[in-house]
Amino acid sequence: MKITVVGSGFVGQTTAMRVLEKGLGEVCLIDIIEGKPQGLALDLKEAAPVEGYEPSITGTNDYADTAGSDIVVITAGFPRQPGMSRMDLLGKNAAIMRDVIANVAPGSPDAILIVVSNPLDEMTSLAADASGFPKRRVFGMAGVLDSARLRFFIAEELGVPPSEVEAITLGSHGDAMVALPRHATVGGRPLPELVDEATLERLFQRTRDGGAEVVALLKSGSAYYAPSASIVAMIRAIVKDTKEALPLCAWTSGEYGISDVYLGVPATLGRAGVEGIVELDLNEDELARLRDAAEGIRAKCADLANV
Ligand SMILES: NC(=O)c1ccc[n+]([C@@H]2O[C@H](COP(=O)([O-])OP(=O)(O)OC[C@H]3O[C@@H](n4cnc5c(N)ncnc54)[C@H](O)[C@@H]3O)[C@@H](O)[C@H]2O)c1
Repeated sequence: MKITVVGSGFVGQTTAMRVLEKGLGEVCLIDIIEGKPQGLALDLKEAAPVEGYEPSITGTNDYADTAGSDIVVITAGFPRQPGMSRMDLLGKNAAIMRDVIANVAPGSPDAILIVVSNPLDEMTSLAADASGFPKRRVFGMAGVLDSARLRFFIAEELGVPPSEVEAITLGSHGDAMVALPRHATVGGRPLPELVDEATLERLFQRTRDGGAEVVALLKSGSAYYAPSASIVAMIRAIVKDTKEALPLCAWTSGEYGISDVYLGVPATLGRAGVEGIVELDLNEDELARLRDAAEGIRAKCADLANV
């Protein structure tokens, strides 16, 4: 499979590295900065003899080289700086997203688009509109990352390996993230049986602020190791056609009583893209918070027309 990664910054380059190391396909890495994707591609090829992967990567500034892609991952755009919210990136990154789609979509009309640039939910919606691709082939990465952060924080709190923790977050990639305590388990036991209410809320709030915590420590730029791992989990599901359910930003059509808006929900992912949305058993409060998140995203997407 041909996997184009647009944007050769920290998220793009670590995504390219993970795709090569896992042997998931041939990578085309593109950026507007001359020499950057070429230099990174050469560096990654030189690691191939040591790591034992195929050196199948091209670095380019020319969209002609992306033609015929099966998957296009869009990481182009500005990351947050300390004190910024993801929404502060809306105007600048909307312009970049429109430019990227106009360049990449004509040469790869059958591609699946995985949007990563922030603000995630709004950029995914913009990518779908600008490309005109079927909605099942346009979705965003956020839920795998937010869920991974939550799983790690729970594991750290309880002193258990992260692999023993299952947890999922829905809603938006931001303050309206919806954590589901009843669906979180540690070694098969429900999380609410293991920690008190205050601890639960502290873990969820840390997850909501997970990106900002890294941004504040780095002082320049935002997270990329956990984001690229999350992107590659989605690429793997597509390439291997696993049809596994992963939380991602998908187009809703009546699920959870929500329609016609991109929202973080569990969705089955395979070669055709999103194959279905999984409807978890949510209580009234969880449903209400999911619907609030959806309305928040819908309102912001309406603002996109003015930026
Ligand atoms: N969805 C998520 O969970 C998640 C997680 C981490 C980062 N992000 C977002 O991903 C984006 C990238 O983050 P990063 O840390 O890699 O940033 P970065 O600054 O390291 O890299 C961004 C790259 O995009 C390139 N670029 C800018 N305009 C372009 C265009 N028109 N065409 C092609 N390339 C272009 C830049 O030259 C740069 O190399 C940011 O918007 C960030 O907020 C999202």
